[in-house]
Amino acid sequence: MDNRPIGIFDSGVGGLTVTRRVMDELANEEIVYFGDTARVPYGSKSKDTITKFAKQDIRFLISKDVKAVVIACNTVSSNSLDELKEAFDIPVFGVVKPGAVQAAKATQNNNIGVIATAATVRSGAYKREILNINNGSNVSSRACPLFVPLAEEGWSDEEVTYLTAKKYLSGLIEKNIDTLVLGCTHYPLLRNCIQRTFGESVRLIDPAYETAVVLKEYLVKNDMLRISSEPAQNRFYVSDKTETFSKICRQALGREFEADLINIEEF
Ligand code: DGL
Repeated sequence: MDNRPIGIFDSGVGGLTVTRRVMDELANEEIVYFGDTARVPYGSKSKDTITKFAKQDIRFLISKDVKAVVIACNTVSSNSLDELKEAFDIPVFGVVKPGAVQAAKATQNNNIGVIATAATVRSGAYKREILNINNGSNVSSRACPLFVPLAEEGWSDEEVTYLTAKKYLSGLIEKNIDTLVLGCTHYPLLRNCIQRTFGESVRLIDPAYETAVVLKEYLVKNDMLRISSEPAQNRFYVSDKTETFSKICRQALGREFEADLINIEEF
């Protein structure tokens, strides 16, 4: 038994989509969430900066006495996972491998698309992981950086979002993909728009599902589940107070949560 909370972080609100899956899978666990809303986006930054920010984010979560960390950010997972695992003494989980496993299982025609931030696409991590599982796959990747501010703004169903999706995704539609990895945790917030742009024949993969399963298996195997009859208390922190945080909480988690402001530069 380990009653300490699980730490989850992202550059902003995108990690709330992963938090949702962790809550579904591990309802009795407590969560400490950090969204680095002052420094979003990470996806346009260099590997060194992404790793430096991620280390600060994890130090903050460790200061809240978490028992494990979920990197609810593909940009950090694809660029910095090995270095972060090495640097910290607690279990650290990324989202890329779980997403690759789901995609490789789902495809029927072996044509898989990946949409992600520029830094995730540049890392080649999804392609590597998918080819490791099935080297007969054709993986086509496309960076969609404007999806992040659109999701942070809460514009999931605006005309500008549909126009942006059409522009970004037309190349992938031509590749005859049957499976698309939402390789940025912000993108499930735009899921309807992305699905409508491709049509129903393309299966969207949200790596958060498998990530939550992998986390649960680890906690069970290592006897680290929270055992308490008290309801789980979740806490949310951000590095900049934005008006949209509680709105996106409602969209991603089904209810509003207040987030406390912290100074991430202190960590
Ligand atoms: N949500 C993050 C990801 O999964 C990062 C978005 C960004 O900060 O650019 O990649």
